[in-house]
Amino acid sequence: MTALLDLAVVVPTFNERGNVATLVAKLDQALAGLEWEMIFVDDDSPDGTASAAREIARIDRRVRVIQRIGRRGLSTACIEGMCATAAPLVAVIDGDLQHDETLLPGMVAALRRDAALEVVVGSRFVAGGGTGEWDRDRVAKSALATRLARRVLKADLADPMSGFFMIRSDVIRGLAPRLKGIGFKILLDIMTASPRPIAFVELPYTFRVRTEGESKLDHVVAMEYLIALYDRMFGKAVPVRFAMFSAIGVLGLAVHMAVLWLLFRGAGSSFIAGTIVATFAAMTFNFFLNNTLTYRDRRLKGARALLDGWVAFCVVCSIGAVANIGVAAFLHDVRDGAWAASAMVGVLVGAVWNYALSSRFTWGRY
Ligand code: GDD
Ligand code: MN
Repeated sequence: MTALLDLAVVVPTFNERGNVATLVAKLDQALAGLEWEMIFVDDDSPDGTASAAREIARIDRRVRVIQRIGRRGLSTACIEGMCATAAPLVAVIDGDLQHDETLLPGMVAALRRDAALEVVVGSRFVAGGGTGEWDRDRVAKSALATRLARRVLKADLADPMSGFFMIRSDVIRGLAPRLKGIGFKILLDIMTASPRPIAFVELPYTFRVRTEGESKLDHVVAMEYLIALYDRMFGKAVPVRFAMFSAIGVLGLAVHMAVLWLLFRGAGSSFIAGTIVATFAAMTFNFFLNNTLTYRDRRLKGARALLDGWVAFCVVCSIGAVANIGVAAFLHDVRDGAWAASAMVGVLVGAVWNYALSSRFTWGRY
């Protein structure tokens, strides 16, 4: 008879090969006296993080590896890791040694002491915690992001951006279907997903400096953060992907007009030739922008995939344009005079068509 499992520690990783062995050793030390398992969730890192973790897992059965293929995302990695354990408690900790693993036993103790408590957050912004050696720029950006988060959150959580926390695993399983899984902010996602307030406490720790590998927090991650906030606030009314697709569509219209102006007014081409070139320029512009932003999680890569995607996108949008013109003309006929309203409805129908069909036929591998 073996002892019951107490705790699972989920470690999302992308290119953290150099940190894997140290982290396992540090956890082993910090968690002495507890029955634990560790789940690396690696997004097929090119540096071979998953194989490095498997090498250890062969000899240490407490270590497990989930290797995700063709996927990226810190939040979704954490969610999948947290749902992959039978332990009653589950923690999430970064794989780069920046979080203080010696806090874990204290987190376990807090959850055991108080049955009503659901989440323990490792916090940089309560007394005793800190951001270590961050430069002023990063402190300022983090403070701004934290302020925004608190507005959405409506709870008095000092460090909603923390990526270091422990939760009861039945709580996370219950919330999982409601999670958005966008970007980096998994804790914020959890706290805002619940229809009722979540009982939490914060324990202080000091964020460490990264010594191996590099941070994946870049502009795309910052943009994803804003997207996640938008989604929580307005996502029910206008889905975030459709909002981005439409905003890019408006930019495409500007490209269309600029190209047409250059060719027709500037270079003296015929209106029809100018329009054809402008249409393809706008569709191409929209295709690439949507591929990098709207559908960044299923981005088409490689010449062949891009060409196929571009052709599918142009076909879908051409039909969308015909639908737009048809609807606008029909409405204009029946309600003579309401030209602007007719045009707007036509544009909306075209946009919904383009969005629905391109998400299926251009970026619809999944
Ligand atoms: N599986 C997976 N997939 N893991 C990822 C991905 C991904 O797409 N992107 C990053 N990770 C892993 C990294 O390998 C690391 O273990 C952890 O997630 C944190 O990533 P970093 O790139 O080191 O992020 P950071 O240190 O800038 O941000 C940390 O601090 C923030 C607070 O300022 C994270 O803990 C954030 O969650 C936290 O909000
Ligand atoms: Mn880090």
